[in-house]
Amino acid sequence: MRLITSLVALTSLYTAVLAADNGLAVTPQMGWNTWNHFGCDISEDTILSAASALVANNLTQFGYEYVIMDDCWHAPSRDNQTGAPVADPAKFPNGIKDLSDKIHAMGLKFGIYSDAGTYTCGGRFGSLGHEQIDAQTYAEWGVDYLKYDNCYNEGLSGTPQISHERYANMSQALNATGRPILFSMCNWGEDGPWNFAQNIANSWRISGDIMDNFDRFDDRCPCTSVIDCKLPGFHCAMSRIIDFAAPVGQKAGPGHWNDLDMLEIGNGGMTFDEYVTHFSMWSILKSPLILGNDITNMTNETLAIITNEAVIAINQDAAGSPANRMWKRSASEGGDLSLWAGSLVNNTFVFALLNTSPAEQTVGVDLADVFFDQGKSYQTQAYEVFDLWQKDGAGSWGKSIGIIQGGMNVTIGVHQTKVWKAVPAPQANTKRNYAEL
Ligand code: GLA
Repeated sequence: MRLITSLVALTSLYTAVLAADNGLAVTPQMGWNTWNHFGCDISEDTILSAASALVANNLTQFGYEYVIMDDCWHAPSRDNQTGAPVADPAKFPNGIKDLSDKIHAMGLKFGIYSDAGTYTCGGRFGSLGHEQIDAQTYAEWGVDYLKYDNCYNEGLSGTPQISHERYANMSQALNATGRPILFSMCNWGEDGPWNFAQNIANSWRISGDIMDNFDRFDDRCPCTSVIDCKLPGFHCAMSRIIDFAAPVGQKAGPGHWNDLDMLEIGNGGMTFDEYVTHFSMWSILKSPLILGNDITNMTNETLAIITNEAVIAINQDAAGSPANRMWKRSASEGGDLSLWAGSLVNNTFVFALLNTSPAEQTVGVDLADVFFDQGKSYQTQAYEVFDLWQKDGAGSWGKSIGIIQGGMNVTIGVHQTKVWKAVPAPQANTKRNYAEL
């Protein structure tokens, strides 16, 4: 037994020191990024306003800390003497170092974007072949985070080894600067980064770009699975990315996460319940939580979703174990229902029910399915169950719905997700069986 315990301890130690050897993203990174809302239309002002709004809305208290400048910050070309990257002087009249100093002075961290190719996806200069000078310049600018894209990669993909080498070059250049810089790899799942990037990146995108839509099929996101996908594309509906993520959860852990792409909550393309699903699923699958809306102008509904501290706590749980899909069934009226479950620290658990169908559904959730991995004693014992999308008497997210044993019946609305935390109950004499919620 002791041998097993020390082996487990050793394994987790080993896992912890992987991930680009930078000690970062021990839990999934949280922050805000310019791209989903502003695209190329960014400037010093866009970024500083967002940074101020992060602070003013107390989002820092919930863990959001990185302010990330995505594509299109670049001048038309590099410095023609030194080869160093240069920012667009019209958009950034005070330069990037000044911007990052201001962000740091607000208690935040600063992220930048580049591309492991000749050009970025927006057609600016890329970093392929310029890894050292770029990493060095970012470090001098006080950069804390690099999102590293995959456009114009000169065909340097097609095998895990080729992709690994291209991304490892930048990972090593970042490490060589001596500055801790979170490395967020964005090769859209090409060549299966979940198999080869654990020790070079803190996170890797698993799919083509997200679209602010629940389930619309779009041929520009043609793959039905991310395993062996040859054209990740873009315009991937949110619920399709959930399907994509289901099989690869097993490859993520502290310091190396599956990135389901930046959040669309607050950008207007989905309903409240759909955005609750988006936040819930990204959280339990341990994706980085990078806001992608205009945080200077948010509705109370958007703010409520992104500040659900009980759901964020699942995302940031120290066990770092993504939930698994325990079953997926066709719903009675089109679409699917799926049950997800995962382990948290201190012998507690999370489980969630997702309804992608266009109708309300009532379904039995069996604890034998929730605790399939843990075995019989876990399947049959009683739990206090907390609904993480209901508030308790004190106004905090996570209301106890009682002691549950065996299972429960759940009614779940169109495109909703319900998320529960289960804590083993000390005694089972107040149990409810299949309680109607
Ligand atoms: C790619 C990335 C996006 C974004 C754009 C910028 O499409 O996947 O997240 O960074 O490039 O051009």
